[in-house]
Amino acid sequence: RAHVTLHRLAEMKAQREPIVMVTAYDHATARIAERAEVDMVLVGDSGAQVVLGHASTAAVTVDEMLMLAAAVRRGIRSAFVVADVPFGSTEVSDEQAVATAVRFVKEAGADAVKLEGGGPARLARIRAIADAGVVVVGHVGLTPQTAVALGGLRAQGRTADSAERFAREALAVQDAGASVLVIEAVPAEVVDAVLPALHIPVIGIGAGRADGQVLVMHDLVGLTEGRTAVFVKRFADAGTVMADGVAAYAAEVRAGTFPAAEHGYSATPAAVAAARA
Ligand code: KIV
Ligand code: NA
Repeated sequence: RAHVTLHRLAEMKAQREPIVMVTAYDHATARIAERAEVDMVLVGDSGAQVVLGHASTAAVTVDEMLMLAAAVRRGIRSAFVVADVPFGSTEVSDEQAVATAVRFVKEAGADAVKLEGGGPARLARIRAIADAGVVVVGHVGLTPQTAVALGGLRAQGRTADSAERFAREALAVQDAGASVLVIEAVPAEVVDAVLPALHIPVIGIGAGRADGQVLVMHDLVGLTEGRTAVFVKRFADAGTVMADGVAAYAAEVRAGTFPAAEHGYSATPAAVAAARA
């Protein structure tokens, strides 16, 4: 399959061919995404929670995200790879933001970086990074990195004030130079009202149909425990498959039925004799 490029994504939008995006955090999940021939892979800072066990995305560092992104990159042949820049790594200044974005391209091989938010300072960062030649994916609506300031992990755009802010930020992020926009947790009718003015591909999560969808890999394959957001659909139960596999292994080790002869190596009688001495 040919490399998915920005040009290809624009073509898919124009032809109303839904764009499929999923998160990945390491080589194994990247290979699974690639086998499914998804169009875009996001090394999400949701990895802070689903692979590193933090309570929120705010805790993950640039170095941790770079390690995850580089591992994903090595597993991807054709999908477009986007890496989340973590909270705190672009907030200080345009210079800091450009330096961080460049690290994701140079050290991890990302095709693009994703930045949350559409306030005035965020727009300056998007512009600075895009001007430096790094492809930017915007992210508006619910922005988990600053969820505390939003009053928690809650849907956006449900009231007139919130919908006005969402629409303004979505358009401003596009105008600032983002090449793709992720919209999270916004009512579909509110997203639909803004979509005609968005010329870049729009990827939704809990935001109606848009031009494509993104979900967290571990949520959709059933590797996360406990409650998930309303926009998550579980398409597989990999957690049960894996737990059953580990339990079967444990049972055979305890019963003495694993390993069997075919799981080992042969040696010459001389080797055995030498070991005995
Ligand atoms: O980190 C993440 O997984 C994300 C998606 C949910 C859009 O930002
Ligand atoms: Na994220």
